[in-house]
Amino acid sequence: MPTSSEPLQSVLHPAGADAEIIGQFAWVLFGAGLLIFLAVMALLGLSLRRHAAPLRPGLWIAGGGIALPVLLLTGLLGWSTWRSAQLVPQGSAQLAGNAPAISVTARMWWWEVRYHDPASGREIVTANEIRIPVGRTVYLGLNAADVIHSLWVPALAGKRDMIPGRVTGLTLRADKPGVYRGQCAEYCGTQHAHMALHVVALAPAEFEAWLQNQAQPARTPEAALPLRGRDVFFEQRCQNCHTIRGVVASNSLGPDLTHVGSRLQIGAGLLRTHSGTLAGWIADPQALKPGVFMPAASGIDGESLRALAAYLEHLQ
Ligand code: CUA
Repeated sequence: MPTSSEPLQSVLHPAGADAEIIGQFAWVLFGAGLLIFLAVMALLGLSLRRHAAPLRPGLWIAGGGIALPVLLLTGLLGWSTWRSAQLVPQGSAQLAGNAPAISVTARMWWWEVRYHDPASGREIVTANEIRIPVGRTVYLGLNAADVIHSLWVPALAGKRDMIPGRVTGLTLRADKPGVYRGQCAEYCGTQHAHMALHVVALAPAEFEAWLQNQAQPARTPEAALPLRGRDVFFEQRCQNCHTIRGVVASNSLGPDLTHVGSRLQIGAGLLRTHSGTLAGWIADPQALKPGVFMPAASGIDGESLRALAAYLEHLQ
């Protein structure tokens, strides 16, 4: 799985069928716009050079003002309507076939991701990361918990607004394995800019293994440091907002931490996950993401902070 460098977030590097079409729109409209610009500049140059000669204004207006725009714009409209019809029909849950149902809830300023597999009864809750099997069309049910957000993973699909009290949907398909960065595309408050997510497309067998691991409750640590960290978790009252399946159930004010150590990033695309960044985040989340609803750890000493970070990193 390529995690070494920050993945591209670009319409111009499509990796799925819909994104391919949207990428073509970008190029064709840019190309047509460029041609029009060059033609206008050429005519401007011509008119400045030949100001003495009669210009036959009637012909110029009919040709340049009516015929050319009508032909060009009708051509572009026809082409884009034809191409749009080839986009995957959105909001059709049945396209997902037997893939697990995935629902994404946008919150200020992170993403809760739930997998429900009716066959096995597995229910998985994770955050800021959507793992999908490569080459399969996956349907995401979208909702928002507080204000309007918008899900956009430019390399895979178009945007879809996420509206409190209403379920919308988006189909995703990645044609090659990889990590695709996405971003909230609707201004939703001070940390809108730090509301990113990653779509990780895995080979089907790898995806199934990941699902199975995520469905397990949290592993009990064996080493002394993370074991101590689990006690610190309760001393700091982290359980008031965070669930760790098999350890403590809570509301979903904060992300489910059952397998937090296995996620690429923390803070919704803010920092790569490891014990160092976890410790920094716990010690002072306001310094890293001002306005975030997570309070800083209170009166925690260095040893306890290290232990708590080691425990969370151990939750793979
Ligand atoms: Cu959520 Cu912008």
